[in-house]
Amino acid sequence: MKLNIALLAGDGIGPEVIDQAVKVSNAIAKKFNHEIAWTAALTGAAAIDAVGEPYPDSTHEVCMAADAVLFGAIGHPRFDNDPTAKVRPEQGLLKMRKALGLYANVRPTFTFPSLIDNSPLKRERIEGTDLIILRELTGGIYFGERGRSEDGNTAFDTCTYTKDEVVRLAKLGFEMAMQRSKKLCCVDKANVLETSRLWRQTVQGMEKDYPEVTVSYEFVDAVAMRLVQWPSSYDVLITENLFGDILTDEASVISGSMGLMPSSSIGVHTSLFEPIHGSYPQAAGKDIANPLATVLSAAMMFEDAFGLKEEAEAIRTVVNKSLAEGIVSEDLAGKNKAYKTSEIGDWLAANI
Ligand code: IPM
Ligand code: MN
Repeated sequence: MKLNIALLAGDGIGPEVIDQAVKVSNAIAKKFNHEIAWTAALTGAAAIDAVGEPYPDSTHEVCMAADAVLFGAIGHPRFDNDPTAKVRPEQGLLKMRKALGLYANVRPTFTFPSLIDNSPLKRERIEGTDLIILRELTGGIYFGERGRSEDGNTAFDTCTYTKDEVVRLAKLGFEMAMQRSKKLCCVDKANVLETSRLWRQTVQGMEKDYPEVTVSYEFVDAVAMRLVQWPSSYDVLITENLFGDILTDEASVISGSMGLMPSSSIGVHTSLFEPIHGSYPQAAGKDIANPLATVLSAAMMFEDAFGLKEEAEAIRTVVNKSLAEGIVSEDLAGKNKAYKTSEIGDWLAANI
């Protein structure tokens, strides 16, 4: 099979972790007789520095022409500490999500048996956790009208959702639930927000099409609490953009392996695969970052964008082998030897 992949390394540790995912993917392509054409393009602070914009048209064209996008990370502290900055790397991310129609962010949280004691939560709380948060990604308050009063002392952001946006996301949630334990949780704040009432009403209306799925409706504040109390009681959760942003960060620490968690964003035009961690600027260029979240994102890409399940499994198997043999970066090494980012990539490729 010929695989056309856009490669957006981005900022901070992005380029280093992406390099390892490329090594691993190329080794998989060789083993399974595929041909990968990688096309690199600029995003984030790197793109601002080069062309003045975080998601230039040239990058958009590369993404639109690709079958899938593999993404590193964006963000730079230079912008975080400057509230007056006119262009920010994150704007590129939002623009890209909208332009590619990336309406659903899929973030799994699962445990690695060998790493379970890395979690800040007690073993008995997290054992068996295997959940997916489906976050709506192109609507809600992140994309609504916003502004300031003339005197600068009042500000507003608006949250808007259409029924169609809810249906599109919820459909994915129901379908995923059907493939898994047939449990779906709709997370909202329907006791206060009108948009949440639209979500709840819309999802309730869809229940009859999926009679085997049991749906629960829970308020986001309660979910925030239950997620750390009983994460293993959840399976598929669907929610709007802002709630999903917060809950997915919360969920990312449950397994204690943030450097290992992959994600995908399903789009109208193409889909994007990226690690859930950020650009970790303190580690940039040091060859110390954990590349496994990006490598596992590449596995998700093989499976979800190309239907290549066996290839995805081969990646997951070699990642598990590296963990079992202690070929790990400093975040997981403890008192043992920490391997460099690039050494881990080489090891994985050689073992494929
Ligand atoms: C994420 C990020 C982004 C978001 C930021 C960088 C705009 O935190 O992917 O969760 O909040 O959507
Ligand atoms: Mn976030």
